[in-house]
Amino acid sequence: MRKLAAIFLSSLLVLSLAACGNSQQTGTTTPEPSTQTENPSSSPTAENSQTEEFTATEGMESNGNILIVYFSVPETDGLDTVAGASRVVVDGEVLGNTQYLAQLIQQETGGELFRIETVQEYPGTHDDLLDFAYNELSENARPELATEIDNLDSYDVIFLGYPNWNADLPMPLYTFLETYNFSGKTIIPFTSHGGSGFSRTIQTIQELQPQATVIEDGLSISRNNVTDAQSDVTEWIAGLNLGESQ
Ligand SMILES: Cc1cc2nc3c(=O)[nH]c(=O)nc-3n(C[C@H](O)[C@H](O)[C@H](O)COP(=O)(O)O)c2cc1C
Repeated sequence: MRKLAAIFLSSLLVLSLAACGNSQQTGTTTPEPSTQTENPSSSPTAENSQTEEFTATEGMESNGNILIVYFSVPETDGLDTVAGASRVVVDGEVLGNTQYLAQLIQQETGGELFRIETVQEYPGTHDDLLDFAYNELSENARPELATEIDNLDSYDVIFLGYPNWNADLPMPLYTFLETYNFSGKTIIPFTSHGGSGFSRTIQTIQELQPQATVIEDGLSISRNNVTDAQSDVTEWIAGLNLGESQ
């Protein structure tokens, strides 16, 4: 039975990648409700700037089977140097580190982007954000989500990105993973961090979604290297060998 399920999952992945490589289409679904992102084709820089809303690039290629979910909180104060900044600026737009990685993955796979947002906004300044997140962790909070996936059945492969917070998932990821059922789907984690990598978060995702296949070979990028991550993303996705996993 497990073998049959594995074969079925592998077939889904093959179909997903085949579609990605051969028949990418223009924007079939639009799960990112309020902050669709620009194509980060320009060279990114890390610098101090105001966060702005931005709109989807017209004609962006997409693959209907792949969803790229991410949570990310750009910091707008303090860290003004390239190394250590929790933001990336592309064509004047301020992106969080994980958000930028999500865009690179979108370019590579043609998947759809979906941003996890919360009703309660997170502070954009470093110390306030640390305090806020630590309190949420201490309280084992489940922050209420402000964005919703309404067509999850359409997706077989879910890239799931988040920053490492306190050696754990940010608490909105707990809300997210307890809200949806990814049974039968493949979850591919990616993270940006300040030195801890994934910590134990991949195991936690598997525990919260026991019926999903959670890929252990996730992408982990230090915040110091996010702006140079393009080739890492490309190699990682190629190295997943999803098309050969049948
Ligand atoms: C509240 C908070 C807690 C963090 N805890 C950790 C940690 O335990 N380990 C680590 O390596 N980095 C930690 N970091 C650093 C972030 O993982 C890193 O800056 C990441 O790139 C931020 O991604 P984002 O811009 O997408 O939010 C923490 C950052 C914040 C704001």
